Amino acid sequence: MTDEPMDIDTPASSAAPANAMAALMAAAKDKGKGKASEDGGVEKYRPNTLDDVVSHKDITTTIEKFIDAGRLPHLLLYGPPGTGKTSTVLALARRLYGPAYKKHILELNASDDRGIDVVRDQIKSFAMTKVLFSKGFKLVILDEADMMTQAAQAALRRVIETHTKNVRFCILCNYVNKITPAIQSRCTRFRFMPLPEKEVRRKVDEVVEKEGVNLTDDGRVALLKLSKGDMRRALNVLQACHAAYDTVDKTAVYTCTGNPHPEDIERVVKSMLSDEFGTAYNLITTLKVERGLALQDLISGTYDFLQTVDLPTQSRVFLLDHLGSCEHRLSLGGSEKMQLTALLGAFKIAVELSQKKAK
Ligand SMILES: Nc1ncnc2c1ncn2[C@@H]1O[C@H](COP(=O)(O)OP(=O)(O)OP(=O)(O)O)[C@@H](O)[C@H]1O
Ligand SMILES: [Mg+2]
Repeated sequence: MTDEPMDIDTPASSAAPANAMAALMAAAKDKGKGKASEDGGVEKYRPNTLDDVVSHKDITTTIEKFIDAGRLPHLLLYGPPGTGKTSTVLALARRLYGPAYKKHILELNASDDRGIDVVRDQIKSFAMTKVLFSKGFKLVILDEADMMTQAAQAALRRVIETHTKNVRFCILCNYVNKITPAIQSRCTRFRFMPLPEKEVRRKVDEVVEKEGVNLTDDGRVALLKLSKGDMRRALNVLQACHAAYDTVDKTAVYTCTGNPHPEDIERVVKSMLSDEFGTAYNLITTLKVERGLALQDLISGTYDFLQTVDLPTQSRVFLLDHLGSCEHRLSLGGSEKMQLTALLGAFKIAVELSQKKAK
């Protein structure tokens, strides 16, 4: 899959500068409307309070109940990127300690070293010391904890137990299976689902109004579709498009993110299904060069498009299997040319299969 978040690519064939983001920013400055970017974009709209966290109401109300009862357990928050885990914990810290919350927390993320030494020294000494004049506990926030080594996690087990009186641990990660079961069992787990489109739309509309973005209806639909429940991606793409274009429409959104346009995908799939091998091959290679598309993008686009095409089950299963294999081989470094021909071959056989069925 090539749905790397927030990749802001321009087509490779265009004579754009190597750093597309820099170009976008420059364009924004020219127009004198780089405000959102100067203010930090996504960070500017990070929720401050638990109430501001969009969706996940069940989680935020439960956490508030814990706080009100003075019984906050160790927390393990997990789920896909851009769904509000870090924001929730920071809002929790603000709620517990007020604006000067930084004194009461130790925040470590993937950019900090978090090997076994850090657990032994930094975390332990933070856990043992008390902040003067404050009662209760302090927070240790371990962000992106799935990147911690097994040894560090093992060392953490005992630290969590022995210092429960003085500190609470908030462990955040994308992949919960990378956290050892022993740590999982010491925490109360909350899963952050991808955000529903409705909620992302509400936030996007709010930002659009505040920043004065000229977002068209089809642009909004494309933005929500591409963000797939990741609020950070939605806001980042919106910011990049706003910086680069006066009107943010569907084309702007797809061009800005380097994703293939749905019309192009439709052309490609139709050609693979009905044109002769050579014609389809030429069309796809030309399109790839013109638009700067990678075969991987075409494959994921084709996958989405195939859901809307009426095909006999046998052909569909055959095609899906081959799409999967091609993607896998590409990810292992297979040549684009060879995989494209393999994919075309698969389409031809799928068409034959469907004709056999019809006879
Ligand atoms: N539930 C949400 N409500 C409001 N804004 C959100 C929400 N989730 C994400 N955002 C927006 O996305 C940005 C990133 O969110 P956050 O850092 O909390 O994500 P995360 O879940 O910690 O992601 P990662 O797993 O990548 O660390 C925030 O600054 C905010 O603007
Ligand atoms: Mg985070």
